[in-house]
Amino acid sequence: MVKQGKQEVESGYKPPLKAKVENLAAYDVIFVGTPIWWYTIASPVATFLAESDLAGKTIIPFCTHGGYGAGHSLEDIKKLAPKSRVLDELVLDGSKTYAQKEIYAWLSKVGFGE
Ligand SMILES: Cc1cc2nc3c(=O)[nH]c(=O)nc-3n(C[C@H](O)[C@H](O)[C@H](O)COP(=O)(O)O)c2cc1C
Repeated sequence: MVKQGKQEVESGYKPPLKAKVENLAAYDVIFVGTPIWWYTIASPVATFLAESDLAGKTIIPFCTHGGYGAGHSLEDIKKLAPKSRVLDELVLDGSKTYAQKEIYAWLSKVGFGE
């Protein structure tokens, strides 16, 4: 699977998605979560960003990784959604546990504090 993911990422493959987000137009702010695959977003997430009309929307990215960090995921999200405002990414190491207050601190930073 890791090998297939490498091929997908390196070739820029955008796998077809089984489900579409209904009434995306109704949302101004979209949280986009992804596992990191080969230093960037997973290919199905790339499909979503490439196929969706996200112009004028705010994207709030978050990712999990296996120990090597977020790579160039944020830059790649910005490239795939050039007409969106892309905020700071929450980067989580998939092997660690995080306190709820750390997540809340990030939510506050991106404007969704309590
Ligand atoms: C195809 C593939 C590529 C991956 N590439 C990376 C990577 O470049 N850096 C990294 O830290 N972790 C990498 N991982 C580990 C995943 O980021 C990690 O397993 C994931 O964030 C955990 O979330 P999940 O349980 O939803 O998969 C990769 C995993 C897969 C399947």
